[in-house]
Amino acid sequence: MPLVSMRQLLDEAAKGGYGVGAFNVNDMEQIQAIMMAARQTKSPVIVQASRGARAFAEDLYLFKLIQAAAELNPDIPIAMHQDHGNSFETCKSAIALGYTSVMMDGSLKEDGKTPSTFDENVEVTRRVVDYAHERGVTVEGEIGVLGGVEDGHGAGGTGLEHITDPDQAVEFAERTGVDALAIAIGTSHGAYKFTKKPDGSVLKMDVLIAIHKRLPHTHLVMHGSSSVPKELQDIVNEYGGKLKQTWGVPIEEIQLGIRNGVRKVNVDTDNRLAMTGAIRKVLWTQPEKFDPRDYMKPAREAMAKVVADRMTEFGQAGHAGDYKPIPITEIAEGYKSGKLDTRPSVTAK
Ligand code: 13P
Repeated sequence: MPLVSMRQLLDEAAKGGYGVGAFNVNDMEQIQAIMMAARQTKSPVIVQASRGARAFAEDLYLFKLIQAAAELNPDIPIAMHQDHGNSFETCKSAIALGYTSVMMDGSLKEDGKTPSTFDENVEVTRRVVDYAHERGVTVEGEIGVLGGVEDGHGAGGTGLEHITDPDQAVEFAERTGVDALAIAIGTSHGAYKFTKKPDGSVLKMDVLIAIHKRLPHTHLVMHGSSSVPKELQDIVNEYGGKLKQTWGVPIEEIQLGIRNGVRKVNVDTDNRLAMTGAIRKVLWTQPEKFDPRDYMKPAREAMAKVVADRMTEFGQAGHAGDYKPIPITEIAEGYKSGKLDTRPSVTAK
């Protein structure tokens, strides 16, 4: 199956009332782990690469691996997404490679660190939307600023510093026409999100619900949504790791989000932890081993298990065969004719 438009994948998820995990990749084993899980659970899936991942894997290697995944798994809809694009040029280069979706994270300036102004964010995102939609490519924007740093991208700090203002989210959706919107509700990238099980004082699900009520046609995206399960932390630490105890986003909060318009759920840290735990275990318990396959195979299996669990928990399991991919050229027509327009002034009519 050719790579699928992320917009189609999310529209289908909205129809079915489920969320779709967007899993970060840097190498072949991670892509294989995701595909193992997608086959096992019969799930459509979003595979995403950060700028750091694209640099690490030399872009073309990564993209060819995704194409291989699509070729080897003709029954699984796969959208390939640029995670946290920092500029128009980054998004353009992803589209040139064949990504079917891009995130223009205009919440930060091009350095990927300094918060931008609202107007700067609107301007660069609008430019990416015009360019991408003409080519049938989906666009995710971000309003508010997430906490933490991922692959060198992020303002740092806690997730509470720049919580999304619902009025701004509505204005942003209207002025940019994005397909999907990442909002800041207290989550942050990385393992260290919360010091205890999060409640409403640090994880603002009420803000998410308020935004969904006002923007029912814009797919919401939860970033920083690893659950950082204690079992995964414990395996890393049992075999020589040094992680401080921490809390992620509980699955039931993500499921509450999914009942309130969240269609894309970003997960990276949980998979990193699963792979690292499995690798540490082999190297710690069998120090005579030196063939990378001896630790990469268990690492791949550990990640596949986490991904399969998330696919089931987010509800995407069983939905791979629900629809046929719409060619990207037809999606471009849908944008041109206004059929796929999500701006609140248009959808309210
Ligand atoms: P985690 O660090 O919680 O896995 O978040 C990943 C993410 O949001 C990628 O954009």
